[in-house]
Amino acid sequence: MKKCALHNLGCKVNAYETEAMQEQLQDAGYEIVSFEEKADVYVINTCSVTNIADRKSRQMIHRARRMNPEAIVVATGCYVQAFAEDLLAEGTVDIILGNNQKGKLVENLERFEAEQATVTCMSDVLREKDFEDLWMSKTAEHTRAFIKIQDGCNQFCSYCIIPYTRGRVRSRRPEEILREVNALVKEGYQEVVLTGILLSAYGVDFEEKTSLLEIVQMLNEVEGLERIRLGSLEPRVITEDFLQGLKETEKFCPHFHLSLQSGCDETLARMNRHYTTGEYLDKCRMIREVFDHPAITTDVITGFAGETEEEFAATKAFVEEVGFFEMHVFPYSKRKGTKAEKMPGQVTEAVKKARSRELLVLEQEMSDRFRSYYIGKEVAVLLEECVEIEGKKYTLGHTCEYVKVALAGEWDANKIVTVRITGKLDADKMLAE
Ligand code: F3S
Repeated sequence: MKKCALHNLGCKVNAYETEAMQEQLQDAGYEIVSFEEKADVYVINTCSVTNIADRKSRQMIHRARRMNPEAIVVATGCYVQAFAEDLLAEGTVDIILGNNQKGKLVENLERFEAEQATVTCMSDVLREKDFEDLWMSKTAEHTRAFIKIQDGCNQFCSYCIIPYTRGRVRSRRPEEILREVNALVKEGYQEVVLTGILLSAYGVDFEEKTSLLEIVQMLNEVEGLERIRLGSLEPRVITEDFLQGLKETEKFCPHFHLSLQSGCDETLARMNRHYTTGEYLDKCRMIREVFDHPAITTDVITGFAGETEEEFAATKAFVEEVGFFEMHVFPYSKRKGTKAEKMPGQVTEAVKKARSRELLVLEQEMSDRFRSYYIGKEVAVLLEECVEIEGKKYTLGHTCEYVKVALAGEWDANKIVTVRITGKLDADKMLAE
């Protein structure tokens, strides 16, 4: 049996595609082994979101070649989409598979074996109009499945290359989403997380418009599925109708990951984000009017090109005003070929990191505040795994709002149980009984 090792870089969408490729390979009779082992085929699903991601992608391709000089090395994903010519010229890779071509992995392996010459399978992703349907019936996580329902982006943020590596907005047909979710539920998954590159734009490319809300409502009817969570959203998707619809959908988890990036209007304008802080705050207020103690989480970039001390202070004040449950904080990292790369006023790495640290201190305070609300309350937790912390056994899980909970003792995973929160265990976990 031939052995294949896969390595994923980048976002949840890429991770989904890696899992789907893994399943194609298993169905074709390959044995999947870890990337540290000697394999006959190596697949690297690359990322190109920053210059560092490009470098890591190249490193993994070279590592695969070193692991087994005789192996077939397949490079796919965003770095490949952006730099296929460089890769071809370098000659390290045997199969170059563009984005939107990942469903053709096995046929391209067969083609390489037949022709024994470098195979290139690429398309002009900017012209792609159809969503590439991939398929996954199990994932590395045992209780929660991230599924991809949308691809591409039409936003053109000044720091981002993704619209060029993934193309325009393309959505997955509702019947395909339903088919995959049904299969995942059969495998025992109780929670799905709907993901996409620009999830908020789901359905805008269909002639008969279908909205993200309709997908959540459709999945709400799936027997055996208990929780539906949404991936990252843009503020503009938040409307009264959207929120009311979600509120009436019992399996929807009130956890909104609302992409912010900066809490300063001048910085947002340079980033080419399509909202102001005032609009963003309004959306958060709307969410809190409809839901009782919803989780609002976000992403923030520190040290974006031209970010002055005053602009950073505005961001800091703004995130505090919103009161996030969690923030993912990223120091701005340049990507070649973007507008932001050439903007004046680039911030030093030291300042970016110092600003990130400041926001992370704030994040911990806000997070503690959000989680303390649950002390003494009963919550439903989806149990995920048993761990040992300081010599004691706990079973970890998450609430609908994605608060991490540790229940003392060993309990069956993949069960939803009602527990009472008694206090805080550590920086990111609440204790329950
Ligand atoms: Fe990276 Fe492509 Fe995702 S650039 S973050 S893998 S969309």
